[in-house]
Amino acid sequence: MPSEHRFDPNFTDAVINATGPGATPRVRQLTAGLIRHLHDFARENELTVDEWMAGVELLNEAGRMSDSKRNEGQLVCDVLGLESLVDEITYKLASTAASEPTATAILGPFYRHDAPQLPMGASIVSGLDNTEGDCTWMHGTVTDFRTGAPIAGAVVDVWHTAPNGLYEQQDPDQPEMNLRGRFTTGADGKYAFYCLRPVPYPIPFDGPAGRILKALDRHPFRPAHIHFLLTAPGYKPIVTQIFDRKSKYIEDDAVFAVKDSLVVDFVPFEGDAKAEFELPYDFKMASFEDAKKGPVEGTTEESASM
Ligand code: BEZ
Ligand code: FE
Repeated sequence: MPSEHRFDPNFTDAVINATGPGATPRVRQLTAGLIRHLHDFARENELTVDEWMAGVELLNEAGRMSDSKRNEGQLVCDVLGLESLVDEITYKLASTAASEPTATAILGPFYRHDAPQLPMGASIVSGLDNTEGDCTWMHGTVTDFRTGAPIAGAVVDVWHTAPNGLYEQQDPDQPEMNLRGRFTTGADGKYAFYCLRPVPYPIPFDGPAGRILKALDRHPFRPAHIHFLLTAPGYKPIVTQIFDRKSKYIEDDAVFAVKDSLVVDFVPFEGDAKAEFELPYDFKMASFEDAKKGPVEGTTEESASM
């Protein structure tokens, strides 16, 4: 173990103290923490110039590979678990409460903000051979997590990959906006649409994120999942995913995003000639007021802070 005093003990403070008076308190706090952790990391591991430069090259390459259809920097963070950790920190709301909003999960790099607005009950599947993929009737209610009341005007924005494991923007053979849609609830808070039962797929691994996975002897696969962004007037948006319990990699997601409460069952569906499976799922949202309050009444301080 290298002794702390093999290196100038005042160096890190000198770098942090170079911050000028114009830096905002948050910038000052974040950069001081980052500098301290980076310097400790370098000292503890006796980082060599070659190793540091390999890291710089990896960041540069991630930047060069990124464009409007690919976010390699985000992928690098994902395989290191950083997006999942930041998601947990940002959205945590008394996870032991008796009643709680739908858990969050990472956005990932494939969201598009302008998915088509579709009529309730429509299909998000376009341009795929009807025999490809298992058609699924997904439906449920969007409610207020505290009162249980249905939420009108909630927008359920959904996206998932095609059976070949690619999102439409990764795949020139898919029509624009395939497997994406936005559905707005009425007074009953209900939503419904046709989609496909998703498949596990590898995150892009032909760049720095893939090289990290290879060096760590890890696979690039995510378990089958469907992404959602829920918004509603007066409510805190929810970014989440639901995961197929039967999917390969459910215990071993390359980006560490699976949470127990988000694991669902696709049920064989008899009542509809179009759909092989049914997927009932209700979303629970927190109003901005409740999101500030935290745990529901009846939850002890102790259990809420566990
Ligand atoms: C996704 O689920 O779309 C995703 C998440 C993290 C990295 C790559 C893809
Ligand atoms: Fe995904």
